[in-house]
Amino acid sequence: MPLDDLYRQVIMDHYQHPRNRGTLGDGAVSVHLHNPTCGDEITLQLAVEGDVVRDIRFEGIGCSISIASASMMTEAVKGKSVKDALSLAESFHRLIRGEEEDEEDLGDLEALRGVSKFPARVKCALLAWNALERATRADGERQDETNH
Ligand code: FES
Repeated sequence: MPLDDLYRQVIMDHYQHPRNRGTLGDGAVSVHLHNPTCGDEITLQLAVEGDVVRDIRFEGIGCSISIASASMMTEAVKGKSVKDALSLAESFHRLIRGEEEDEEDLGDLEALRGVSKFPARVKCALLAWNALERATRADGERQDETNH
C-alpha cells in the first residue's frame, strides 16, 4: 500500500476512534484552546504524578487533522516524563514545519508529516500540542486561551 494511503488510514482511524477522549476528575490541570480561524476547540486535561504524565484526556470539536493529532498526542505522551513529553512536542513541531526529523521514530505521528505542505492545516495539527505545553506550565488552574 502506498505510504500516503497508509498515513491517511492512520489519521482516519484516530479521527473516528479517538484515544483518551473524555475528562479526568478533580486535581487535573485543564486547558481550553480554540482556533479562531475555524472555531475548532479542545479541552485537554492532564494528571501529573511526580514527574510523569499519569493520565491525559481530551474533548473537543475539530477537523480530522486536529482530532487525530490530539488522539495521537495523548497516546504518545501518556506514561512519559513531562520532560520527555515536551521534547516530543518539540520534535512534532519540527515535523509539522517540514524540518528533517531523522533522529527519532515518531510512530503514528509520522502520518501527520504531510500536513507541513498545507500551511492552513498546521494550526489544526498543533492545537492539541499547544494545549499540552500550556498544561505542563499550568499550576492546576483552568486556562482558557486562543491557539496563536
Ligand atoms: Fe479547525 Fe482544523 S479546520 S482545527
